[in-house]
Amino acid sequence: MQAPLKPLLKALKGESGNAVPIWLMRQAGRYLPEYRELRSRAGGFLELCFDPALAAEATLQPLRRFGLDAAIIFSDILVIPHALGRKVGFASGEGPFVEPLADEASVERLRRDRLHEELAPIYEVIDRVAGLLPHGTSLIGFAGAPWTVASYMVEGGTARDFAVIKGWAYRNPEAFERLLAVLVEATAAYLVRQVEHGAEVLQIFESWAGALAEREFQQWSIEPVKGIVARVRKSCPDVPIIGFPRGAGYGCLRFAGETAVNGIGLDPSIPLAWAAHEMQHRCTLQGNLDPVLLLVGGEPMKREAVRILSVWGKGPFIFNLGHGVLPTTPPEHVAALVEIVRNWQCDPADAAQSQT
Ligand code: CP3
Repeated sequence: MQAPLKPLLKALKGESGNAVPIWLMRQAGRYLPEYRELRSRAGGFLELCFDPALAAEATLQPLRRFGLDAAIIFSDILVIPHALGRKVGFASGEGPFVEPLADEASVERLRRDRLHEELAPIYEVIDRVAGLLPHGTSLIGFAGAPWTVASYMVEGGTARDFAVIKGWAYRNPEAFERLLAVLVEATAAYLVRQVEHGAEVLQIFESWAGALAEREFQQWSIEPVKGIVARVRKSCPDVPIIGFPRGAGYGCLRFAGETAVNGIGLDPSIPLAWAAHEMQHRCTLQGNLDPVLLLVGGEPMKREAVRILSVWGKGPFIFNLGHGVLPTTPPEHVAALVEIVRNWQCDPADAAQSQT
């Protein structure tokens, strides 16, 4: 007999049932004391990402505490610029640093021939974790979308007003398109390898979708992500892909439709009823609790979590935050949130309703 489909994979196939799967963006990280211990043992964040034994441990830590439906590989979207030969650093409390691309000509000097060699430790993390996952838990691989990753590479870190990268793109569109094309190729190759090593689901983070006007959103976000999805599907036709166009507003509808992702990550600004009506019949929804409510916990968190469940819970739906867990979040609040989602599934009123 075939093993039953894991809850996350079931939801991404468009199936709905009483059970809503849950995982959280940034579920591994500084809010966990055991993570802080691991990070100090590694000496730094990037050192932790590139140490397969420690990164595998970081991946598994939140599962031990909370019994979530998915593990997400412990890594970062900025390993791609690193693999392309750019210096990347994470000084505590300062956000990331990426050696900025000095001029358009530097795009041609990106080192594209050593991609998989540089990323080999991450593939090893996947090998290790794939064999250790609790029954029913899915393994998520991920990468940043080209626009978001390019913003770090051109701005040198987290952008404020995106003046540098947009200035580049408007003044020299050919060079900018070339950078996006290099990132599409590298990212697709990286994601395919993640699947070959055992990732069962992929998520593409477009964290800075909200910085783009309509035409630029189409050209710099949707088109490159569409290119990645098409390339990945050629090699791995069955692996479900979740897109997360944070801040895209109603643009998330077009993003989901045109990129043909299986699931769409929604941020807290997306109206629940609108998404249920416009998207849920053809795309699995994922989100969208405000991470600040997880930090606050108690009744305010419960009220909103139940509201989300009552509108999206009939599925297909994956419960998540609308952005990553904040570093000051008490771990007990995560446990309480998981409990709320699990109890909702068992609620006889909801179960009865979903049968009618
Ligand atoms: O648990 C998981 O979700 C998996 C690991 C993961 C990390 N980063 C670990 C991390 C994932 C999926 C990411 C994605 C990521 N990284 C994104 C997209 C999602 C988003 O948040 O919008 C972006 C934009 C980045 C870039 C990045 N990495 C930033 C802006 C920062 C600094 C912010 C901060 O919290 O310090 C990082 C560092 C980072 N990535 C940490 C972790 C656990 C903190 C590092 C530390 O100090 O220990």
